[in-house]
Amino acid sequence: MALAPLTGRTAVITGASSGLGVDFARELAALGCRLVLVARREDRLKALQAELKEKHQADSVVVALDLTDAAAPQALFDLLKQQRLQVDVLVNNAGFGLFGNELDIPWDKTRQMLMLDIVALTHLTKLFARDMVKRGSGYILQVASIGAYQPSPTYAAYSAAKAYVLSFGQALNYELRGTGVSCTVVSPGVTATEFLQVSGQKTTWFQRITMMDSAAVARIGIRAMLKRRYSVVTGWINRLLTLTTRLSPAAANAAITYRLMKNA
Ligand SMILES: NC(=O)c1ccc[n+]([C@@H]2O[C@H](COP(=O)([O-])OP(=O)(O)OC[C@H]3O[C@@H](n4cnc5c(N)ncnc54)[C@H](OP(=O)(O)O)[C@@H]3O)[C@@H](O)[C@H]2O)c1
Repeated sequence: MALAPLTGRTAVITGASSGLGVDFARELAALGCRLVLVARREDRLKALQAELKEKHQADSVVVALDLTDAAAPQALFDLLKQQRLQVDVLVNNAGFGLFGNELDIPWDKTRQMLMLDIVALTHLTKLFARDMVKRGSGYILQVASIGAYQPSPTYAAYSAAKAYVLSFGQALNYELRGTGVSCTVVSPGVTATEFLQVSGQKTTWFQRITMMDSAAVARIGIRAMLKRRYSVVTGWINRLLTLTTRLSPAAANAAITYRLMKNA
């Protein structure tokens, strides 16, 4: 793996206060990056900032921001411009899911999820990727999910949002060919983070036996990004699942996913 190109480069990581975002930050700090850590919980970001300084001598900037606010991506971009920070890596990781029958989930919650998982991700990508293309170099990592590969009852809007991320990222990567900038999509399966707590789902037997470690998932994502791969599914069980769903009819996939996801 090419390690040298990231030394001294700046990486923006959204959702760096918990779970995968923390591990993406640790990976990139170990590779010599300066970090911009973004999320709402500033205390958590500051604790990570101190850890990265101590363990990797990595400098970082903490930006406490609610990315469901439509003005937040532009505000982040402008702030980093003011600070003369040139962004070489963008990890669009912030996201959450909502578990339940779609009609039982209040619209405002779904709207916030779509603002974060789709709108903020797309806006941040456009802002930072344009600068990267002008300079002729850069890496973008979009965090999707294996939920992107099939309709997922009980996570209907979330899995549809992640299908958007997968499709958007792969299409953009093609448009970026020859620019020196790449867009990689990483699709994790169930990973040990705060995701289920936030989504409101009790861990199912299927999730318990397939759950991956967050550090391992982050490492797979960063390696794929550095190899400029267009897409990666984390872990062999998840790869097998996405392969199986591609070969089965959508109606069967929806029914199987429902059985694997439902609580009790
Ligand atoms: N864990 C899994 O099983 C799994 C599987 C597939 C895909 N994913 C995806 O992986 C990504 C990371 O999730 P995770 O599993 O690490 O979950 P997590 O532990 O809950 O972390 C989510 C991160 O997103 C941030 N975030 C949430 N709302 C935000 C907002 N309004 N503005 C800014 N940041 C916000 C959170 O920070 P604050 O709360 O401090 O704002 C937190 O840092 C997500 O895109 C998720 O969809 C997770």
